[in-house]
Amino acid sequence: MTKVITYGTFDLFHEGHYRLLQRAKGLGDYLIVGVTTEAYDKTRGKLNVVDSLVTRIENIRKTGFADEIIIEESQGQKVNDIRKFHIDIFAIGSDWIGEFDYLKDFCKVVYLERTKNISSTMLRAQNSPIQRIGIIGTGRIAARFIPEARLVSGVSTQGVYNPHTESAERFAERWEINAYTTLEKFYDEIDTVYVASPHETHYDYIRDALAHGKHVLCEKPMVLQRGQAEELFAYAKEKGLILFEGIKTAYCPGFHKLLGIACSGTIGSIRNVEACFTKLENAANRELTDTVYGGSFTELGSYVMLPILKIFGKEFDEVRFDTIHDEKGLDIFTRACFRFPTGIAVATCGLGVKSEGRLLVAGTKGYIVAEAPWWKTSYFEVHYEDAGRVEKYSEIFLGDGLRYEISDFLSMINGNSSSEFKLTRGESATMAGIMGLFLEEEGRL
Ligand code: CTP
Repeated sequence: MTKVITYGTFDLFHEGHYRLLQRAKGLGDYLIVGVTTEAYDKTRGKLNVVDSLVTRIENIRKTGFADEIIIEESQGQKVNDIRKFHIDIFAIGSDWIGEFDYLKDFCKVVYLERTKNISSTMLRAQNSPIQRIGIIGTGRIAARFIPEARLVSGVSTQGVYNPHTESAERFAERWEINAYTTLEKFYDEIDTVYVASPHETHYDYIRDALAHGKHVLCEKPMVLQRGQAEELFAYAKEKGLILFEGIKTAYCPGFHKLLGIACSGTIGSIRNVEACFTKLENAANRELTDTVYGGSFTELGSYVMLPILKIFGKEFDEVRFDTIHDEKGLDIFTRACFRFPTGIAVATCGLGVKSEGRLLVAGTKGYIVAEAPWWKTSYFEVHYEDAGRVEKYSEIFLGDGLRYEISDFLSMINGNSSSEFKLTRGESATMAGIMGLFLEEEGRL
């Protein structure tokens, strides 16, 4: 008996997939089809798969060509499968020519001619037209956003708005996009807005973009007062639009794995969370010169509050701030201490004091530790009373990590709300509320 194996995502099952499976089956007597998991697709940078794994498997089963369907969940699995299932032929579409020649040591490799003019990517674009993103603001984060957005299929960066002509033009030229200096023209040519301007301008830009019927992805901190967050979310809902706060950590796969393990009971009941993020900032930068909206907490507070609220929830009994100020009165090191009904937490951040950036989650049976840069979670450990027992976890974190939030934002625009739980509106509003309390205490609101 000749055994054949092939692999793919098989999203939005189409004619090309059907013909590939038909010919793969024709190469032998028994066909095994490997279907990628969502997690594996994410690690290889395929972010916008529409159909669930169950649907993709079901579509393959319905063709009647597959004698067996397996899951492909990691890099390097193919060689093991070929050995395990005693495979004679590995078949794949001609778009992969050369890529799988290394398997020739284990079985015959056949590249089947790809069916022309059809692909999942093409169907995704037809079902959900490309979202043209317009960026408001031309700062460092805006520059990091563009290469990341280019990796997400389904979006294109159309242009940038900045009321200062020179800044808009310089930025647009560097990234080969359009420059807009009036909002009317900007709104005419885009579908979606990424707000990357200084914090205090977010509220007005978001409101205006929503009023013009645009979905909004806003850089953190979205706003600095709870009432503003609630009002904007309500307005977005009324207009049928998506408003989404971009805290990249919330959407990265490693942070999810960490939260999943933290909340699974592995380390018992969680009693303490400590999150620290410090970044020594240039004294001339906005973060250390804007004495109203600058400082460490508005800049980094979103990151350090995130794991605390994800683990203990939004209802805290008390929050207390300890702050070190510079000579201008700006917080260069801030500690927010929380008391929750089931535990305590500390969120520490600094722009002028360097400390060990670490996330620690302590429970009644053990603890989880993720070292800096835990906000781009790619590795963490679980420790227990028995010091010799350490479980190590790693997860991919690609590039600057903004691709994950952009991809989830796009899924939500396209009607898929399965990533909404990663950062809920209530959590965003709670963070804005805590920022507001802090600024009030500092006498800045
Ligand atoms: N395939 C094919 N002809 C097409 C599209 C895909 O023969 N027009 C083959 C691929 O070469 C692969 C298998 O079908 O062997 C599964 O491919 P997959 O990556 O799931 O499909 P694509 O449509 O290429 O997906 P995407 O656009 O997301 O890359």
